[in-house]
Amino acid sequence: MIKNESDRDVQGYKVIEKEIGRSLSSKELEIIKKLEEKFPRSDFFFQVNDSEVAFHLNSLDLNAFKEYANHLIKEYELDVQTEKNIFFEIIKEIENIKSYGIKSGKRIYVDYNKEKKVQNRRSKILRRGAYFYALNNNFSEKVNELPEKFVNKIICGDSEHVLKQLPDNCIDIIFTSPPYNFGLDYDTSEDGIDWNRYFSKLFAVFKECIRVLKYGGRIIVNVQPLFSDYIPIHHIISNFFMDNKLIWKGEILWEKHNYNCKYTAWGSWKSPSNPYLKYTWEFLEIFCKGDLKKTGSRGNIDITGDEFKKWVYAKWDIAPERNMKEWGHPAMFPEELVRRVLKLFSYRKDIVLDPFNGVGTTTKVAKELGRRYVGIDISEEYCKKAEKRLEEITC
Ligand SMILES: C[S@@+](CC[C@H](N)C(=O)[O-])C[C@H]1O[C@@H](n2cnc3c(N)ncnc32)[C@H](O)[C@@H]1O
Repeated sequence: MIKNESDRDVQGYKVIEKEIGRSLSSKELEIIKKLEEKFPRSDFFFQVNDSEVAFHLNSLDLNAFKEYANHLIKEYELDVQTEKNIFFEIIKEIENIKSYGIKSGKRIYVDYNKEKKVQNRRSKILRRGAYFYALNNNFSEKVNELPEKFVNKIICGDSEHVLKQLPDNCIDIIFTSPPYNFGLDYDTSEDGIDWNRYFSKLFAVFKECIRVLKYGGRIIVNVQPLFSDYIPIHHIISNFFMDNKLIWKGEILWEKHNYNCKYTAWGSWKSPSNPYLKYTWEFLEIFCKGDLKKTGSRGNIDITGDEFKKWVYAKWDIAPERNMKEWGHPAMFPEELVRRVLKLFSYRKDIVLDPFNGVGTTTKVAKELGRRYVGIDISEEYCKKAEKRLEEITC
């Protein structure tokens, strides 16, 4: 505690001054001493003059401070009426400071912006023109109900045609993994066709997806480029959505730790002539229609604080699906991937669409999480399996 000391360098502290119109009692001075002993000097210090107390604040674990101050107030039997208790007064003022940074569990009240490399971030974003490619869209904000005959249904058919039966703006979130054109042995559809044909079909389906998505709705596409063909599908798909005025919200890297590829071609072994790069991950590209914000009722949020903190870090370590043989499908994604996407980007009761639903991983998890769903796949066999997975859910 510094008493009657005026030459102390108080730069770097926010000052809370309290005129109390009397001298502090010996009990109050003792509490100040104990508080200063308990916390680092760099966090705060008191300055006491005749009838005035100045609390110099730099950073604070506010909960720990409050807990200890309350403990001392009880121990020294101070008056607990706020207006008579100098410590309560100071705590009230600290709580009213709304602008602070957080570091290692402490609130930082001074210079917390100093380390930020970019100052005036917001005005700079405005000047640069955030998502300029998606401005001046003609998306309507009107919401249409998904007709009852499609709600919680698995539909067998070509998505391009099935989706045409749905009204505009009736789906909250689309999560899907289209065929990657690797040449997989799907039940019905051809995989491994000429790239131009592939993209023209894929984009015909995605055009319908954009139309049926509500304003503020999200479409999230899981893809893996075919590196051996040097076709960056994830970039081509992203360009398609941006050309169609959707906002690119970001990209999640799904780390599968798929080390099988360790043993595949090296390209030019030990030579820079043409080394072949290897990947153990896939991508999730996220797009928004019209607005980055999605409205929904607070009561329908089901993500926990811990999940949120973990999942906004956009690299997800999730093992690939292990039961593909059991379900007889060559390219399923794991349930955990869907669980995270739906909890992070949608509300309970939202309508989830997967236009390449396969054996129904998306629709299964959507049902488990209390969302409504529509799953479409061209294979009757896969659709039957998707329905079976839904029937097995008891909740
Ligand atoms: C990568 S798989 C999706 C697997 C799914 N995520 C799962 O976990 O079961 C792609 C699916 O798209 C389906 N498909 C291909 N062309 C289609 C089309 N035009 N309309 C609907 N489904 C199609 C295939 O039958 C295949 O099941």
